[in-house]
Amino acid sequence: MKAEILTLLRERADFVSGQELCEHFGVSRTAVWKGINQLKKEGYLIEAVQNRGYRLREESEEIYGQNELASRIQTKWMGRPAKFYEELSSTNAQAKVEAENGAQAGTLIVTDSQSAGRGRRGRGWSSPPGTNVYFTLILKPEFAPDKASMLTLLMALAVARGINRSLTEAGETKESHTLGIKWPNDIVVNGRKVCGILTEMSVERDYIQYVVIGVGINVKRQEFAPEIAATAASLEEEYGRKLSRCALIANILKAFEEDYRIFCKTENLSDLRAWYDAFLVNRNREVCVLEPGGEYRGVARGINDVGELLVELADGTVKEVYAGEVSVRGIYGYV
Ligand code: BTN
Repeated sequence: MKAEILTLLRERADFVSGQELCEHFGVSRTAVWKGINQLKKEGYLIEAVQNRGYRLREESEEIYGQNELASRIQTKWMGRPAKFYEELSSTNAQAKVEAENGAQAGTLIVTDSQSAGRGRRGRGWSSPPGTNVYFTLILKPEFAPDKASMLTLLMALAVARGINRSLTEAGETKESHTLGIKWPNDIVVNGRKVCGILTEMSVERDYIQYVVIGVGINVKRQEFAPEIAATAASLEEEYGRKLSRCALIANILKAFEEDYRIFCKTENLSDLRAWYDAFLVNRNREVCVLEPGGEYRGVARGINDVGELLVELADGTVKEVYAGEVSVRGIYGYV
């Protein structure tokens, strides 16, 4: 009930009477009072005024925890339930355990810090506490395993949309959002990476048992390790605005729920690719495609219906680049 009280107080942004809260939740005044007191103990600034009721003061410092997270989620099923942990080895590892144990599709695992955060290609993912967003979503889709790689692009689109929504809520003007997607799934701001996505799945014979999509977003100003300092950035530093991490997660899930519904109609990206391409920072830029067997250059034109990058070569032929073993670099740097 505490998360629901928070949602209601936040939405109203004014006093809500104790009587209304009792009726809304079908509980006694004492139960409401207890809930409010527990929220105050968690750090929420809630005013209580006789004959007027309770009001949440929005200038409360960001509280990152279970009730805040649950109170922000506005989806039908994506991110339900939402589970918050103070620390985990990795949200992907935890999500896999929970998926094996029967967690329902849509379950969200969030943590404040990871002791063994995982990146792509066997790399680690720096995950200090109090700084960033680390979450993993569990899905149990009914489509064939070869379609799952598109979910990573779908999540990249949702992250880009969710961040934009949060920036707008924080007062950033639409025109100045400079966020993009570096194919297939890095989110970049001013040419530097603010988010990485790691999708893993368990397949039995020809059927997906579960997919876990892990997202790490650099939110607050921080010192990056020397090896990534030139290519990594954080949202608050790039935009000079404070963002609520829980609201950011909620905005991403809202976008992902919408995009996933569209995706499931066709089981491909045909209805979303124009949108994805609008965020694609490599679009119409010269790129270098690094394959296990060598490298070549061309101009990136966008993605096709299955999320492959269309690269136009000098002779006019167009290559369809599949993300698997390949990486794409701008010829003058990371983007
Ligand atoms: C990349 O290398 O770009 C992907 C990084 C993915 C990091 C996220 S943080 C939350 C989730 N849990 C993990 O251990 N990894 C992903």
